[in-house]
Parts: sequence; structure tokens; C-alpha cells
Amino acid sequence: MSELRVGFIGFGNMAQALAEGFLRTGALRPEQISACARNWDKLRRSTEPKGMRPCREAREVVETSELVILAVKPYMLAEVTAPVREALREKIVVSVAAGYPFDKLDPLLAPGTHHLSTCPNTPVAVAEGILVCEDKHSLTEEEFDAVKQLFEHVALVETVDTAHLSVAGTVCGCTPAYAAMFIEALGDAGVKHGLTRAQAYRLAAQMLVGTGKLHLETGQHPGAMKDAVCSPGGTTIVGVASLERSGFRSAIIDAIDDVENR
Ligand SMILES: NC(=O)c1ccc[n+]([C@@H]2O[C@H](COP(=O)([O-])OP(=O)(O)OC[C@H]3O[C@@H](n4cnc5c(N)ncnc54)[C@H](OP(=O)(O)O)[C@@H]3O)[C@@H](O)[C@H]2O)c1
Repeated sequence: MSELRVGFIGFGNMAQALAEGFLRTGALRPEQISACARNWDKLRRSTEPKGMRPCREAREVVETSELVILAVKPYMLAEVTAPVREALREKIVVSVAAGYPFDKLDPLLAPGTHHLSTCPNTPVAVAEGILVCEDKHSLTEEEFDAVKQLFEHVALVETVDTAHLSVAGTVCGCTPAYAAMFIEALGDAGVKHGLTRAQAYRLAAQMLVGTGKLHLETGQHPGAMKDAVCSPGGTTIVGVASLERSGFRSAIIDAIDDVENR
């Protein structure tokens, strides 16, 4: 594992978050990571200062890697894989493209290519991410274990069946944006009542981290966690009632519905 060479085809937000996580945790050394993208100057700026290798073409990335991560926008997948179709047959291919489960990606690759469809989220950059993996894949058991072992440095790795890959990807991949909106809103409320913005954001962000960890470590039902903070006739329950009046929970369920039904 320590010598696994990892190549990114596409080096935007998601790929850079993964690379950052791999480097920060020591899962990979910079010289084990190569990447290609469309804009050469931008790619050099995002790789070279950290010791990663920029490549002019996807072919070079594939040649220098055992594990190739497809990290372009979904609509670009066919275009970027076509020139390296044959070369990818010899590699472990992991796609992070949303909306490309095994059966949709498979025809873009050469028959027999070992590939896995996943959905990560951007907190992988700070080793607090999620990687949802589709249970249908063509990696060997050993290859899957190697991928899992690598990503576990930066993420909780969860496997789901094909039918649930999309919603699992939405719940982990889109929601950092919604969580950031929640932090921003709490920040506005804190500022409205006199906190500095930086302090309000810090409090809100740590509250989210801590609440998530509390659930993961205790396995407590979220409703019980809510109840534990609401004393009878107290202040927290006033806010809970207010959020219910505003449709807080149904707004979140509707958001996921809208993404899934789009
Ligand atoms: N961002 C997320 O939170 C998130 C979460 C889950 C899944 N994903 C998935 O991750 C994938 C990438 O998303 P992103 O947010 O990282 O997008 P992005 O920031 O727009 O990055 C896309 C990358 O693809 C590169 N690219 C475009 N055309 C290319 C080509 N012909 N050859 C090689 N590279 C090319 C771009 O290069 P230039 O920058 O030089 O144009 C850029 O580095 C998507 O499929 C998305 O569904 C993203």
C-alpha cells in the first residue's frame, strides 16, 4: 500500500480534497500522486508546490499509476476515458463521478476493466470525509481492500447497493453545502446578537463536528440526542418548536427529494 501510485484524471475540487487528505494523513507521499486537467498552468499551481506530479495528458497519468481516480464532471467521462480505454484495463479504476454506477460506466471502459463507482465528499480534505462505494464492482477482493484501506485514511467508507448509490451520494456529497448554509445561518444569528462573525462560525462549526461525533460514538438516536438538550419548560425546546413551525426537517427532506428527482 505504501508504494501505491495514484493518478487523478481531473484535478478540481473533489480530486484536490482527496489528494490533500491523502497527504495530510501520510496515506500517500506527494511523489505517489499524479494528475492531469484541462488548464495546464492551473494544474501546475495545484500540484507542484506540494510535490505532486502534473501530467499533460491522461495517458501519462495512467502509465504512472496503479490506481486511477476518474474525477472529471460526469458529462466529461466518455471524452476523457476514450483515449486511455485500453491502458485503463491494466489498472484499478475508481470513479467519483455522480450518477455513474457500474452499469453506466462499464460501457465506457474496455471489457474486463477493474472498476468501482463511488461518491466521496469534500471533508476528505481534513480526513473527516465519507466515501460511498457501490457494492457492484469488478475489482478483485484484494484490490477492493487496497482501495478501502487507502480511503479509510480520509473517510468513513460505506458500501451500498446500486439502487441506493444515488441517495447515499446525495446525503453525503451534496450536504456539505447544506451544512455550510446551516453554519452561515447560525453565524448570522450569532452576529445579530453581538458575537463576532469569526467566533460565531467557529462555535457553529464545532457544534456540528461534535454532534456528529457524539452520534457516531454513542449510536444514540438523533431524536434522543435532541431530547437530551431540551429540558422541560427550557429554552432549547422553544427553538425546536420554532424550527418545526418553519418546516426545518421537511425542508431538508424536500431538498434531498428535489436532488433525487431532478
Ligand atoms: N465537489 C464535490 O463535492 C463532489 C462530491 C461528490 C462527487 N463529486 C464528483 O467529482 C467529480 C469532479 O467534481 P469537481 O467538483 O471536482 O469538479 P471541478 O472542480 O469542476 O473539477 C473538474 C476537473 O476536471 C478537469 N477536466 C475538465 N476537462 C478535462 C479533460 N478533458 N481532461 C482532463 N481533465 C479535465 C478540470 O480541469 P480544469 O480545472 O483545468 O478545467 C478540473 O480539474 C464530478 O464527477 C462530481 O460528480 C464531486
